Amino acid sequence: MDKSERARTQLLIVEDDAAMRELLTESLVEEGYRVDVAAGGRAGIERVRQGGVELVVTDVKMPDMDGLDMLAEIRSPVDASAAPPHVIVITAFGSIETAKRALKLGAHDYITKPFEIDDLVVAVEKALDERNLRSEVARLRKEVARPYRFENIIGKSAPMQDVFALIRRLSSSAVNVLITGESGTGKELVARALHFNSPRAKRTFVAVNCAAIPDTLLESELFGYKRGAFTDARTDRPGMFVEADGGTIFLDEIGDLTPALQAKLLRVLQEREIRPLGAARPEKVDVRVLSATNRDLAQRMSEGAFREDLFYRLNVIEVVLPPLRDRAEDVLPLADHFLQEAEKRTGKRIHAFTQAALKILLGYPWPGNVRELENVVERAVALAEGDQIGPDDLPPQVRERRSPDVLAGALARGLTLSELEREYINRVLQAEGGNKTRAAARLGLDRKTLYRKLEEYQRAPGDPTAEIPLENSGPHELDEPPAHERTAEIPRAEATMPIPRVDPSSDDLE
Ligand SMILES: Nc1ncnc2c1ncn2[C@@H]1O[C@H](COP(=O)(O)OP(=O)(O)OP(=O)(O)O)[C@@H](O)[C@H]1O
Ligand SMILES: [Mg+2]
Repeated sequence: MDKSERARTQLLIVEDDAAMRELLTESLVEEGYRVDVAAGGRAGIERVRQGGVELVVTDVKMPDMDGLDMLAEIRSPVDASAAPPHVIVITAFGSIETAKRALKLGAHDYITKPFEIDDLVVAVEKALDERNLRSEVARLRKEVARPYRFENIIGKSAPMQDVFALIRRLSSSAVNVLITGESGTGKELVARALHFNSPRAKRTFVAVNCAAIPDTLLESELFGYKRGAFTDARTDRPGMFVEADGGTIFLDEIGDLTPALQAKLLRVLQEREIRPLGAARPEKVDVRVLSATNRDLAQRMSEGAFREDLFYRLNVIEVVLPPLRDRAEDVLPLADHFLQEAEKRTGKRIHAFTQAALKILLGYPWPGNVRELENVVERAVALAEGDQIGPDDLPPQVRERRSPDVLAGALARGLTLSELEREYINRVLQAEGGNKTRAAARLGLDRKTLYRKLEEYQRAPGDPTAEIPLENSGPHELDEPPAHERTAEIPRAEATMPIPRVDPSSDDLE
């Protein structure tokens, strides 16, 4: 510890004997520390509560409250967020029992009277070094863990990092968000994270699966009804919008809503009021609407099956969850996460996947996305006999899917080197969500070179049907991003943060 660090380090000496107190203080001040003193246990606790103390040196025998009682109190703080100070106890000669008790109560070290001041100085230094190391480790651990997860959402890939940034950025707002992505990509998980990181977190989150409830019931489920509205309506019943008042409603599978209900939902979003079945007057509600779909709403709109005006109300901001096969970097962190969860649940001690199993997981295209991966890991944990998950613990359809030879397709199609290069560049660009800086870094090119190449491609458009399975990705068209990116309202292009698209006619922004 250098001088300036010492000058920032607050020590506290607790000692009832004035002469001893003075001696200790002088010696430690001479070493460069900041030193406060207390004449007894109670005063010591008082000072620690004020905060900032990193190390306490205390005598044991003191008239008002002895050092061990104080130690016990200090080491089990009321406010667990701040690490309690380390404690060095000064014990009387020969009282080894006291020393043992002190250590048990959480003292870091003890020294026995009589002692040389140098011994104390060394003990103090050791304790502080260890303390710093510990907080450094805790900090690093947090730092390492942070980028890969947002609460219980795991994601190392660029698109997931963008989702985390977006959730953080939206945390003070209540705009309506549309979450799109294939089945099992985590849409509901994201909806929950949006709610629980919003000012509405303390109010209710209500999830409604629009596809699971028959059309005839959905209206009364959503908006409620009044007694006598229909034969079976014997009492008033509040709908889910009322239940979610002040909070969030999550409308899942919104693409399945009938035209009649689309019109009613639009009214709710515009007027901020609902009309229960059989009610004479509408009722005000204050609900944030999150919705999700695995259908292509742009296509549904062009077919006339989904109202455009409703779409813009729901989709103030869109969160796009790409399929798992397009974010290969997430597979292993997710597999690890599900392994840990399954371990916790089952009590089975399985720590890892074998290399062979990992290779299979990475080579599989995951048509069922994260949900399928979760099921596969759970099943494997149930089956595994050793302390590792091997290929035999994986289901046959996963195991038997051989990783394709990445160049075989290119060879078969007789691609030239520059055609192959072009396809690969497009693929990486896609994987990085259109961000050219990141794509260039991943390709080992400087940005200028990448721009130049992209310009060349634009001047000489290639065969858009050409596609090789460079990875286990589904078919993508070369010059057009896949549908979910076409409809993306938040281009992840050069901006590090997505730019929310705000519907100018909407007053949903809070
Ligand atoms: N990034 C992720 N990190 C951790 N768990 C995830 C992640 N994405 C999905 N999951 C888990 O995968 C499962 C499926 O997720 P979820 O239900 O949110 O998907 P979905 O997109 O709503 O699917 P569907 O369209 O079929 O309703 C859940 O158990 C969820 O916890
Ligand atoms: Mg869902």
